[in-house]
Amino acid sequence: MGVLIIPEDLPLTAGLLAYAAKQRIPFHTPGHKGGRSLALPFAGQELASLDLTELPDLDDLHQPSGIIAQSQSNYASWVGAQESFFLVNGATAGIQAALMAVLGPGDLLLTPRNVHKSVNAAMILTGAEPVYYLPEIHPEFGLPLGQMPDKVLDKVSALPDLKAVIVLRPTYYGTVWDMSGLRQGLPNGVIIADEAHGAHFPFCSRLPESALALGADLVVQGSHKTLGALTQGAVLHLGRESGLDRERIARALDVLQTTSPSYLIMASLEGAACEAAARGGEHWSELAERSGQLVARLGARGWRVLNERDVGTYGIAGLDPAKILLHTPAEGVRLARDLAERFGIQAELWDSDNILFLLGAGDSEAGLEKLEQALLQLGPGQPGRERKQFLPPLPVQALTPRQAYFAPKAKVSLREAAGRMCGQTLAPYPPGVPVIVPGEVFSQEIVEYICWSLNQGVYWQGINGDDHIIIIEETGA
Ligand SMILES: Cc1ncc(COP(=O)(O)O)c(C=O)c1O
Repeated sequence: MGVLIIPEDLPLTAGLLAYAAKQRIPFHTPGHKGGRSLALPFAGQELASLDLTELPDLDDLHQPSGIIAQSQSNYASWVGAQESFFLVNGATAGIQAALMAVLGPGDLLLTPRNVHKSVNAAMILTGAEPVYYLPEIHPEFGLPLGQMPDKVLDKVSALPDLKAVIVLRPTYYGTVWDMSGLRQGLPNGVIIADEAHGAHFPFCSRLPESALALGADLVVQGSHKTLGALTQGAVLHLGRESGLDRERIARALDVLQTTSPSYLIMASLEGAACEAAARGGEHWSELAERSGQLVARLGARGWRVLNERDVGTYGIAGLDPAKILLHTPAEGVRLARDLAERFGIQAELWDSDNILFLLGAGDSEAGLEKLEQALLQLGPGQPGRERKQFLPPLPVQALTPRQAYFAPKAKVSLREAAGRMCGQTLAPYPPGVPVIVPGEVFSQEIVEYICWSLNQGVYWQGINGDDHIIIIEETGA
């Protein structure tokens, strides 16, 4: 084969190659970090020769009885699940399938307001009715880092018809809340855990406990985020003690997953879990040690970093050492750009006030050292200031997410929205917690809050430049 020439009509390829050529140090997903721990255990084989489909002897993801069944069963035994189901469309597909397996039209789901959009999609698919509650917003970081267990348990006991609870644990920022009382508080309901960011939890005792060990019925893990699986590789687990019918899960996955699953993704899943089962304990405890030391040293040099002293405050019961959250008041965007352009370090996520770094199966001491040197050179900037963080009370819900999705929409000026039903999700970022979602009614207070916040320069997801927003048209029917 000759030299690869990239013509201008391959913009995607050209963009990918140009990005890869920068050779940034990746503090973001996927967890294999540029292939350093990519768990594709077929050395010497051309990848393309293994990009296969459901052929004789290769089993069928939708009705596994051969090599896929065996591989899923191995994964389940490594993490302590009753059964595991491979996902080739990320944790997104697993969350949607979990909710579809459990909920039908009108069923009540207790959910924190800051769930991933896959939960909202699942409510559209199922017709379930959400009962929302607000997470705790950390006054310094301005982010939803914790949840008060009593608040959740009070909600559960006030809702005798509750069908299921969705648990977001860990958060994107690596914080966990204390869900240990939930199983007892909800003896007849289903606990579904979005553990998209915690696929490494079952493999090392220095990490927070997985929801699998805390009585959850269904647990969704994004193995591509922190373990060594290819992007989109994720797993849906059935909890060991759960009485849920596995056929309902299989049926939901049959509706949602492709009929052409990637064998490369599936093989990377078994490779990632096998590697984590063999060496994860050592890898993650070393990484936890190094990450803890880095956090302490940065703290001593004036950086505000989320750390062990934050445990026990604002609903935070534990921290995942694979996440490093720096508070960078008003400097987040500039610092993330400087880190990338001057030091070749790419963060996972940033906003005006915070930067998040993600460690994974492929991280080593060298990368962390470079991060530390860069941050020490850049300096911590201004000390954090506590900002007034408040969200208006949750609005009245007039339609379910499914009804709202199918209802006709129109655009109006935000100032004229009071009394109208919202047709989109509007969330200030940070904290990224929606103030209003489709099917809820704008109060005057919410309209004023959004206008005030926009005037303060806050970035709003769902509002692009003009002040028009989508509402649901009243049909008068
Ligand atoms: C909390 C949470 N849940 C679920 C998902 C969906 O994961 P995936 O990208 O694997 O579909 C994400 C994605 O970032 C997430 O942050």
